Amino acid sequence: MAKVTFRIFRYNPDKEQASRYQDYIVSLEPGVTLLNCLNKIKWEIDPTLSYRMSCGSAICGSCAMKVNGHALLACKTQASELVRDGVIQIDPIGNSPVMRDLVVDLEPFWGAFRKVEPYLMPDSRDNPERERLQTAAQFLKIDAATQCIMCAACWSDCNSLEVDNLFYGPAALAKAQRFIYDSRDAKKRDRLVEISKLHGMWDCTHCGECSTRCPTEVKPLARIEEIREAAMAEGVHGNNGARHALAFRETVSKRGLLDENYVPVRSVGFFNIMGLLELLPVGLRMFIRRKNPPIIPHGIDNRKEVRKIFSRQKEFRRD
Ligand code: SF4
Ligand code: SF4
Ligand code: FES
Repeated sequence: MAKVTFRIFRYNPDKEQASRYQDYIVSLEPGVTLLNCLNKIKWEIDPTLSYRMSCGSAICGSCAMKVNGHALLACKTQASELVRDGVIQIDPIGNSPVMRDLVVDLEPFWGAFRKVEPYLMPDSRDNPERERLQTAAQFLKIDAATQCIMCAACWSDCNSLEVDNLFYGPAALAKAQRFIYDSRDAKKRDRLVEISKLHGMWDCTHCGECSTRCPTEVKPLARIEEIREAAMAEGVHGNNGARHALAFRETVSKRGLLDENYVPVRSVGFFNIMGLLELLPVGLRMFIRRKNPPIIPHGIDNRKEVRKIFSRQKEFRRD
């Protein structure tokens, strides 16, 4: 049996000033999960090691942690797959304050869920005598998002959260999709307006990390793309994100190229004087360093072909 060093993040705020790593050497039996190894360390070597676990079956979502820099479920991962030069490094999940060792405070994660009001809000005038039914096709639109086990692996590795701790985060936005696309919910537009604001769905950078880390079929980035589509279709355009998407479509469909002077102005809003003034210093810096795009925008030679693509896309959507 191969001996492996488990290098584990340790921190007890009641007793220690700073965090540290502690090494535990464990013989890796074939077929063991990372959680089996942590349990062995805790039960046989060091009972002070703290981490969360419950089901051991990738259902409860308790055992997410960062391993070699990325979040995963300890109970769903074979330990042997994680060894790098004889070492497995384990840290608490990211974007969350550490309470002790691998246990983090998940309150910011739950807070983001509360912001999207994660419950069905049917039409109050509707007073059915039996439960509201859905067809299989209607359910399929929300099926993926219902599979969230709230493990926070996506939250841990989200790059937007890293720079903006008020960002809703991938799991809460996926939860919003679950209700926005629910045929029984009557608050679709209100929900879309709310999550189109600052720190909402348009602040996702499309890095895809959340979908890579998600241990279920939720795949939050795909859900975020769906709610953006819904916002565009519903005409919820009064925000920088939607205007930015429209600006891309407008310039590419007209010229076959991106007009980099037009996009920032359109995104901020033509009548948003304060927003436009905020763009000035960036524009000036670009001008001084000769990085500014040409003042008179040019286009590609065969613009007709690009326009054809856009009109075909419109027809396709109508179908
Ligand atoms: S795709 Fe968006 S939500 Fe997902 S991790 Fe990246 S920034 Fe966060
Ligand atoms: S979306 Fe996926 S990674 Fe995020 S909390 Fe839900 S199950 Fe976990
Ligand atoms: S212990 Fe429940 S998901 Fe890992």
